[in-house]
Amino acid sequence: MSLPIYLDNNSTTPLDPQVIEAMTEVYKSHFGNASSSTHPYGWYAAEIVQIAREEVASLMNAEPDEIVFTSGATEANNLAILGVARRASQKKRRDLLTVESEHDAVLDPVKELEAEGFNPILLPLLRDRKVYGLVEEESFRNAVSDKTLLCSVMLANNEIGVIQDIKQFASIAQEHGAVFHTDATQAVGKMPVDVKDLGVDLLSCTAHKMYGPKGVGALYIRKGERRPLMKPLVFGGGHEKALRSGTLNVPGIVGFGVACRIARAHLEEDMKRIKTLTARLLAKLQCSLRDVEVNGCLEPRLPGNLNIHIKGIDTVRLLGLTNTKVAYSTTAACQSDSTSPSHVLAALGLSNSEQLSSIRLGVGRFTTEEEIDQASDILTQAVVKLRK
Ligand SMILES: Cc1ncc(COP(=O)(O)O)c(C=O)c1O
Repeated sequence: MSLPIYLDNNSTTPLDPQVIEAMTEVYKSHFGNASSSTHPYGWYAAEIVQIAREEVASLMNAEPDEIVFTSGATEANNLAILGVARRASQKKRRDLLTVESEHDAVLDPVKELEAEGFNPILLPLLRDRKVYGLVEEESFRNAVSDKTLLCSVMLANNEIGVIQDIKQFASIAQEHGAVFHTDATQAVGKMPVDVKDLGVDLLSCTAHKMYGPKGVGALYIRKGERRPLMKPLVFGGGHEKALRSGTLNVPGIVGFGVACRIARAHLEEDMKRIKTLTARLLAKLQCSLRDVEVNGCLEPRLPGNLNIHIKGIDTVRLLGLTNTKVAYSTTAACQSDSTSPSHVLAALGLSNSEQLSSIRLGVGRFTTEEEIDQASDILTQAVVKLRK
């Protein structure tokens, strides 16, 4: 059986061949523990981890010692949020400000902290066409105060791809002395991300959304005067400056480093190509089908993300007709139960039936124009059939 055309790049991305090559070499020849300081196996492992740390840092204009390796973005988000809250010394700062459309890896730790005496505040999304899916600056400004401990706003949304004005929000948070975290999982490697320019204190990312391996990610932690104080989640051997104990995943970290190096070298070209292909896909679908609407504003949006609502279509039936030919998703597949309704689409104001008529198509580095044309034909034929 030939595999379906892969249009689910917001869920995960295929490994870049150069990443596979680098990781294979580590698995075959460099099995040392990066903490073994008594022999060359350990020295070499530590050296390649350091090179990867420099690559990861460089992609986001951070310093290598501001990077803590984790098992992915879920852990990075948990470390950022729980880590700051559990270390907080000022009892007057109990507000945790976030947004309704965040990933569960942000919403769940925030909810968890409610039971520990913190006060979650969830901002809504704007629903006017031009700013559809964005957070209003004024409502953010009104919600931050000297009671705010931490703000967490994602850079690019995993379901609808809209890009929030993180620079503005981080600066407002800073005026009030609050820590600012961004979940940049969907953005790093897919659009320019510069921690210094954004002014964030903490930033989460993961390798498997940028053609690297699963099971490895990072938390950027600003250094210097504004370095947030944090308590680790995992205690043990004191790795990663005692913020994340556990033997380092050397092959994964090396793969992550190579993925970052490639992303940096090809960012502009990848973005341009992927944006053109995504626009082609949307134009073809909207040309051949009536009532196809984009969920969330088209600008500013992550190149490659297309979340559409196809009026009157039950996407479970659509999947039944198409999913052996085109791979895409009906909601955030990075959640373990991908059949549950989408809290992100609900935050956009979509009714239940509109949510059930929505699909997410994710174009990536390895998508070709022929695949876009074939996929739009397959989807169009299936929708026409279902509408008969
Ligand atoms: C925005 C966002 N945050 C967090 C995660 C979780 O990342 P990971 O799979 O590395 O734990 C994902 C996707 O899975 C995501 O899209």
